[in-house]
Amino acid sequence: MTQTTDGKASNDSFTLIDNRTGKQVTLPVLPGSTGPSVIDIRKLYSETGHFTYDPGFTSTGSCESKITYIDGDEGVLLHRGYAIDELADNCDFPEVCHLLLNGHLPNAKEKAEFETTIRYHTMVHEQLSRFFSGFRRDAHPMAVLCGVTGALSAFYHDSTDITDPRQRQIASHRLIAKMPTIAAMAYKYNMGQPFMYPRNDLSYAENFLYMTFGTPCEPYKVNPILSKAMDKIFILHADHEQNASTSTVRLAGSSGANPFACIAAGIASLWGPAHGGANEAVLKMLEEIGSVDRIPEIVRRAKSKDDSFRLMGFGHRVYKNYDPRAQVMRQTCHEVLAELGIKDEPLLDIAMELERIALSDEYFIEKKLYPNVDFYSGIILKAMGFPTSMFTVLFAVARTVGWISQWKEMIEDPQQKIGRPRQLYTGETKRPFVPLAERG
Ligand code: SDX
Repeated sequence: MTQTTDGKASNDSFTLIDNRTGKQVTLPVLPGSTGPSVIDIRKLYSETGHFTYDPGFTSTGSCESKITYIDGDEGVLLHRGYAIDELADNCDFPEVCHLLLNGHLPNAKEKAEFETTIRYHTMVHEQLSRFFSGFRRDAHPMAVLCGVTGALSAFYHDSTDITDPRQRQIASHRLIAKMPTIAAMAYKYNMGQPFMYPRNDLSYAENFLYMTFGTPCEPYKVNPILSKAMDKIFILHADHEQNASTSTVRLAGSSGANPFACIAAGIASLWGPAHGGANEAVLKMLEEIGSVDRIPEIVRRAKSKDDSFRLMGFGHRVYKNYDPRAQVMRQTCHEVLAELGIKDEPLLDIAMELERIALSDEYFIEKKLYPNVDFYSGIILKAMGFPTSMFTVLFAVARTVGWISQWKEMIEDPQQKIGRPRQLYTGETKRPFVPLAERG
């Protein structure tokens, strides 16, 4: 009998019958603590000679995990069992980082120790600053973030031995701590402004805003409403089960690659407009729409089978209900705009009208396409002064703790092995070689 890593098993099973031969194969079912059970198909190929086929892995569990659980139909998101809205309303980002990485909410002593550990890893090696000068000033900050993060493995040889728990922990702390610093440096480099060193008297979110928007010319006072909104945005983007970028980190890590290289791979995947790049794409879409009068035409295009256009910020591979993060983000959006005294933000008017129309349109209702986390985040970040090119960078800063927590869980999973999916081959079968002289 097969079982989960903590010994859960069941007597449930599925029996497959080969209709050509009548041969039967019984496959065990593994139960989760909640959500769908899984049919354990690890013996399928050896017993049937068949692979499963599931492009995009929409029905495939790639691993066992205890970190995040999503119920797409109910619009539920739990991190180690805690609901995302309760975490967003009652915790700060370092607390959620501790929860994701270590499996429990820290007590006061643990919280103080964790914050101190992260704080004293926020600086990057001085030599790394020179790395930026190799990029054009107008390089996309995601390209810079991807390159510089991968380069961290050239600076921290003392934390790339993935078999050493202590090195895994140091690498995790370094990545969580340094991502905001590198992200802010990418922004400063793009702006042609000097890098700002992190300050140890500021919180994680305050430090990021300080390093991004502060200058050496005058004191920079962090707006507490904005730092709280930034902290909340980090919490809402921290982790999200086995999404494309997290699966990329796991697959890269399964070969034994060092954690810095794995996170760089995750950044590359997140950059795509169908994934983390959607928040930037939402703003571009709202700016292209330009006025609420054009929304009916845009909705018509989104519904048309003959048009590849999709409404950025709508739909989700898993949520077939409202993304719970979007609900919290919507509220934060209004708080930030009110704090900044932004009343007639045309992009927000377009966004709200687009949401109203989409949520009442039969196509979106039938296909269960709701606003996702990216729909509102772009508006908030624009109001806070970030250029659209930085939106996905902020997503990557937040998601680093999710990626590294999932990477650590994979490395510590006794069932872990190198990822090696198979395929359905429909190409040429073996054919005789044709020498160059005989090719027509
Ligand atoms: C993130 O995986 C994660 O958890 C990701 C993420 C995370 O935190 O890591 O949540 C972050 O990536 C959120 C998603 C951000 N992307 C966007 O907002 C881009 C716009 N959304 C779409 O590209 C799309 O909705 C996806 C990629 C998110 C999901 O695509 P799927 O899996 O193909 O969606 P689906 O199978 O549920 O689609 C059902 C139907 C399809 O039509 P039919 O083939 O059935 O006729 O709905 C259509 C789709 O064509 N559809 C849309 C649409 N999204 C899906 N039609 C118009 N506009 C859209 N946005």
